[in-house]
Amino acid sequence: MIKYIVEGGRPLFGEIHISGAKNAAVAIIPAALMVTGPCRIENVPQISDVTILLGVLQDLGASVRYLNPHTVEVDCTKLRNGRVPYESARQCRASYYMLGALLGRFGAADVALPGGCNFGGTRPIDQHLKGFKALGAQVDTQGGFVMAEAAGGRVKGTSIFLDKVSVGATINIMMAAALAEGMTVIENAAKEPHVVDLANFLNSMGANIMGAGTDVIKVRGVDSLRGGTYSIIPDQIEAGTYMAAVAACGGSVKLCNIIPKHMDCITAKLTEMGVEVQEVDDSLLVSRIGPLVRTNIKTMPYPGFPTDMQPQVAAALCLARGTSVITDNVWNSRFRYIDEFKRMGAQIQVDGNLAIIEGVERLTGAQLEACDLRAGAAMLIAALAAHGISEITNVQYIERGYEDVIGKLRSIGGSIRAVEVPEEEPLAVSSAG
Ligand code: UD1
Repeated sequence: MIKYIVEGGRPLFGEIHISGAKNAAVAIIPAALMVTGPCRIENVPQISDVTILLGVLQDLGASVRYLNPHTVEVDCTKLRNGRVPYESARQCRASYYMLGALLGRFGAADVALPGGCNFGGTRPIDQHLKGFKALGAQVDTQGGFVMAEAAGGRVKGTSIFLDKVSVGATINIMMAAALAEGMTVIENAAKEPHVVDLANFLNSMGANIMGAGTDVIKVRGVDSLRGGTYSIIPDQIEAGTYMAAVAACGGSVKLCNIIPKHMDCITAKLTEMGVEVQEVDDSLLVSRIGPLVRTNIKTMPYPGFPTDMQPQVAAALCLARGTSVITDNVWNSRFRYIDEFKRMGAQIQVDGNLAIIEGVERLTGAQLEACDLRAGAAMLIAALAAHGISEITNVQYIERGYEDVIGKLRSIGGSIRAVEVPEEEPLAVSSAG
């Protein structure tokens, strides 16, 4: 176990290469279960969630080998139609995507529900289960497992209207439907870039999915998927996190290998806050020279402002002139990080899904404990912007979703290092994300 030591108060200058998208990778790796033949996935981020999911595939009988640090070849041809045990599922929430993938490929799935912390509220999967049932599967949840089984060994195409826009339900249903008999229509579907990336991945392996990126997705089921090569999109949230770091610390950083269109919802808010963002081909030059200005933020499904950027931008807003209001419309209680910010001198009040932030002149370094992935990233940003030294523990959360965060921050002038935590300081482990 390690902790990060951060000496804050320095502006950031330089260039960062953005990695492949975590939320796309954690959907595409389970989707590889559905493919017969070798499936080569490029631009795979080196993060612990990826390592865990590839391990789950191996346990199910897949062959997995890295061709280079960011390209992995997965062959699920000889897969046993298996059970994903709790020991595997609990380590990464996205292991529930094995449900849709196994149900599509074998007409049956038996997957433990992921446990762990969940932004301080519940993370229901009723819409996933509703979708599987509509596809003709009998679904039982018993002993912490979801068991789904389609009559006749194959799910059947149908129409599904999601009661709530859900990334996870859209992805799980799309996977099962890709190998269903007949046509499935998913209405009120999520439009996030990683939903589109998964559809593109499946199509490149022979699926027939139309409309991903709109709120109606049509999936014409095919009999099988064949191997191929696919490159994962750049990580919108990783790029946004470094943008928020520049906002909080000041300086000028070029973010390379991004899709500028995916960044619009974040760029718009940061611009309101006094950050300058220039688009050049597949990179953004992000600079903040003048003072930070207050703004209000309401999180929404894509193309709205992403809830996964709310904590990081809140870190910058702690230092903005005036009062900002953040409303999280996606998760009810995603403000557990705020008590840590308060110990750094931030002035914040939380009321339900609202956080009211009164900007202060400076934050001061403190001992901080990450409580989930994006909260951990937000604490890192606050620590980089604060005067003095901060220590961040529970950084395993941060490393679940950010490749080489220390190397990248150091390359732009951040003073951060990892040190071993002596064994007598126990650290919590959980699987939110
Ligand atoms: C994904 C992201 C997560 C992000 C979230 C919202 C991944 C691996 N994780 O999570 O980082 O914060 O999208 O952008 O991509 N809901 C239900 N019933 C369901 C499913 C969801 O009521 O069956 C509700 C949730 O409680 C939440 C909202 O729908 O209020 C959105 O959740 P969803 O989009 O499903 O989030 P995840 O896919 O879990």
